[in-house]
Amino acid sequence: MPVMSAAAPLPSTWTIRLESPEDTALIEALNADSFGPGRFAKSAYRLREGVDPVAALNFVAVEDGVLRGSVRFWPIRIGGEELLLLGPLAVQPGQRGRGIGIALMQAGIAAAHRGPWPAILLVGDEPYYAKVGFSRLPPGRMKFPGPVDPKRILGLSLQSGSLLNLSGQVRRARIDHPVCADGAALD
Ligand SMILES: CC(C)(COP(=O)(O)OP(=O)(O)OC[C@H]1O[C@@H](n2cnc3c(N)ncnc32)[C@H](O)[C@@H]1OP(=O)(O)O)[C@@H](O)C(=O)NCCC(=O)NCCS
Repeated sequence: MPVMSAAAPLPSTWTIRLESPEDTALIEALNADSFGPGRFAKSAYRLREGVDPVAALNFVAVEDGVLRGSVRFWPIRIGGEELLLLGPLAVQPGQRGRGIGIALMQAGIAAAHRGPWPAILLVGDEPYYAKVGFSRLPPGRMKFPGPVDPKRILGLSLQSGSLLNLSGQVRRARIDHPVCADGAALD
């Protein structure tokens, strides 16, 4: 009968670190698997098109050198104010329910608190994102590009009261890489 020795290896666990360039292809494959080709038509993707994510807020979960999950944040603009859009957030299908998604968001939110942004928005399931402090915004205040279920527009203040008077059209913060299939100028 095998006897557990004191030197038996501990079960491995995941750790969170900043995304690096060698993660890019794996993250894109994870997002493609998690959200499918329809993701490009979503309102949130329109806000990301041609815009670089905020590198200091993009985190990955890795375990034994294997990518387990990823979160990215994009800059967006409402009026003259630059905010953040959380997502995509995805965890490998076989690894869900281990706390990885929450830990990725907590890492990103903690880093965002150290930056200049007043708030984070996202489009997603309130019961899940409420676990890290997001709540539903009053309907009709923010206008996203394309149709969005108002019940899925959520916000988290990084500076006290920052969401109270925020309203208007949500736009890309800037265009880093002009892209358009027919060559026309964007925006
Ligand atoms: C959503 C996702 C990122 C969650 O990642 P995860 O690592 O499994 O999440 P965690 O382990 O940190 O949290 C799990 C908890 O959240 C809950 N949860 C997960 N998705 C949920 C949802 N959509 N609505 C409500 N609760 C949800 C689980 O039931 C679990 O609750 P419990 O702790 O009370 O048991 C993951 O399921 C995923 O990659 N899904 C596909 C991509 C996706 O839908 N991304 C979000 C876009 S809105």
